[in-house]
Amino acid sequence: MNFFVLTLFPDMIKDTLSHSITGRAMKEGKINVEPINIRDFSNDKHNHVDDYPYGGGAGMVIRPQPVYDAYKSIENKVGKNTRVVYMTPQGETFNQKMAEEFSKEENIVFLCGHYEGIDERVIDEIVTDEVSIGDFVLTGGELASIMIIDAVSRLVDGVLGKAESFQDESFSESLLEYPQYTRPPEFMGKKVPDVLLSGHHANIDKWRREQSIIRTIEKRPDLIKNAELSKKDIEFIKKIGKYDLLK
Ligand code: ADE
Repeated sequence: MNFFVLTLFPDMIKDTLSHSITGRAMKEGKINVEPINIRDFSNDKHNHVDDYPYGGGAGMVIRPQPVYDAYKSIENKVGKNTRVVYMTPQGETFNQKMAEEFSKEENIVFLCGHYEGIDERVIDEIVTDEVSIGDFVLTGGELASIMIIDAVSRLVDGVLGKAESFQDESFSESLLEYPQYTRPPEFMGKKVPDVLLSGHHANIDKWRREQSIIRTIEKRPDLIKNAELSKKDIEFIKKIGKYDLLK
């Protein structure tokens, strides 16, 4: 999968993603991350990309021309039918479902703003999706696009090894993950739950499923309604007196 990032700070993107699992995926060619410096496309003799806002006010606005030409350089490579995701707090809030949807694309473009914003006309012209990573304001879209590239990359075939598999993880079925333990069997007087030492796989699975449900109800009760629950799960939720949350 190819991730193109239109940005004024290309080093932020490559430097951050070149570690750990995304770094390995880039080296192995499972994903390709290509930051494109909007400044390289400025037709201004000083390479300026921004200008004063019409109508006055604080801050500067990124001019449409360098953004459009930078985008065109990608379109010339991969064609027209590419999603262009503008990172903005005004967008739809990113979630796992969106990550799954993006991971089906072969190419995706992220547009990162800075300063007071980007001239609206180029946004109208090229952007297909507006996405936020939460209700707060960052200094620019770079960190937001990095987060999304990370979340999407790990869903791309072959990026996670077997041991890192995402079958059981938080959000895959709208449930949080069960707690994990490793050696030693006792730490600061706290023991690993007996069932995990029992070697009884069916009991372990049952315990983990119940822990996922308990955790979700305790930490994110808003999620439980949309979780994929079996009859047994629902029986368990009744047993712990939380059936009301399903209504
Ligand atoms: N740019 C600035 N703030 C942002 C946010 N919360 N999400 C996405 N892009 C942003």
